[in-house]
Amino acid sequence: MDKHYYIVTYGCQMNVHESEKIAGILRGLGYEETKEEEKADIIVFNTCCIRENAENHAYGNIGALKKLKRARPELLIAVGGCMTQQEGAADRLRKKFPFVDIVFGTHNLEDLGRLIGLKSKKKKVVEIVEGKNSVDGEDNDISYRTSYPNAWVNIMYGCNNFCTYCIVPYVRGRERSRRPENILAEVNALLDSGYKEITLLGQNVNSYGNDAGGAFTFPSLLRDICKRKEKFRLRFMTSNPKDFGEDLIRAVAENEQICNLIHLPVQAGSDRILRLMNRKYTAAEYLKKVELLHKYIPDCQLTSDLMVGFPTETEEDFSETLRLVKEAGFSTAFTFVYSPRSGTKAAAMEGQIPDEVKKERIMRLVELVNAQTREKSAAYAGKTVEILCEDYDEKKGLYLGRDEYGRMGYFTSEADRVGEFVKLKIDETSGVSLFGTIVKP
Ligand code: SAH
Ligand code: SF4
Ligand code: F3S
Repeated sequence: MDKHYYIVTYGCQMNVHESEKIAGILRGLGYEETKEEEKADIIVFNTCCIRENAENHAYGNIGALKKLKRARPELLIAVGGCMTQQEGAADRLRKKFPFVDIVFGTHNLEDLGRLIGLKSKKKKVVEIVEGKNSVDGEDNDISYRTSYPNAWVNIMYGCNNFCTYCIVPYVRGRERSRRPENILAEVNALLDSGYKEITLLGQNVNSYGNDAGGAFTFPSLLRDICKRKEKFRLRFMTSNPKDFGEDLIRAVAENEQICNLIHLPVQAGSDRILRLMNRKYTAAEYLKKVELLHKYIPDCQLTSDLMVGFPTETEEDFSETLRLVKEAGFSTAFTFVYSPRSGTKAAAMEGQIPDEVKKERIMRLVELVNAQTREKSAAYAGKTVEILCEDYDEKKGLYLGRDEYGRMGYFTSEADRVGEFVKLKIDETSGVSLFGTIVKP
């Protein structure tokens, strides 16, 4: 009888990509994907702990499996990802959800196959390790990808920055860069098999190569990848403003394949808050980099991550965030309410902000960001943009894809366009979405 897997993913693109690796491992063991929980022989939760609500989500959904597990004791339930890697998390999980069979961490995802094998001999398998990754091993691409024509490629693991609010350095360990030749081999294989968009992933791609004594750098990696001359798009995330430098900007400007959309998370507009966050730049330094970016790449667009309610944030601090959002002219931004993470410096700071104040600030921030997004979208009306078609939306009956700047464009087509670059004349805009008609060449 066929065996089936069901994977539930929380968190960032790093996790989405790692779920592709989990899928690859499970397929190697003879499992096939199912979209229905009830039909699964193994359910894997790939968790996130960046904010409390991400954890609550996972907890709720794991808890809801108790019944299914009671009805079908042979069902395997595995929990992995960032949540399990936190101090004491494995014990907490064991107590709260005794029916979970396998717990693994962010450093031993590649061992999942072995852990499943172990489980057949043991009642329960819990393995959390520190500081190891595929980067230290053979570095084969084990991913089973379902995101054609887009592909994610990890260039580094971990983070050294210890922004005071952030749990990532604790659950992902120190920075480890993959060798450029391994990354190039993976990217080239993806392009050879027809992928049209590659997104390079790292917590701070700017520090790529720092752990290898500077033998290679992020700009040099970008230039190497762009030696491929066929048409494709190259994106990356995330770039920390503190070391977002001129050479990187030049590499983006020089290479047509690299999208002129830069995601540059600023977090806050107040220098005092930025200092408390340990972000290592001021608002003025940030805006200088934005200016430099526009100097080299006049048609570039910027997106960001913003946070409200960091400990001690005053109304004046918050208004500086609003001011910076306008000055930097973000085309859109992800907005977050600060969530204390146990073990981080900020969680122990005095002056935690009450929930009502956080709520009120996030609403005002979202309103401003949405207005800016709508305004930028409205400017698309009547223009012609190039879309990389990604999918067909059954409900809308429309094909969809994104332009270089990440705007979603919808259109009708008789032929299947997935994986093709198409030119759209934009008839209508709404929020971040564009609606257009194909322009015949
Ligand atoms: N490495 C990336 C960020 C990864 S986390 C960078 O440095 O830019 C993605 C975003 O989550 C962060 O940019 C931040 O805005 C938000 N975030 C991180 N920790 C948070 C916390 N404790 N509470 C609320 N938002 C948080
Ligand atoms: Fe977290 Fe800062 Fe590292 Fe980004 S750079 S992952 S925000 S510690
Ligand atoms: Fe990503 Fe969440 Fe981990 S944002 S790195 S999955 S804590």
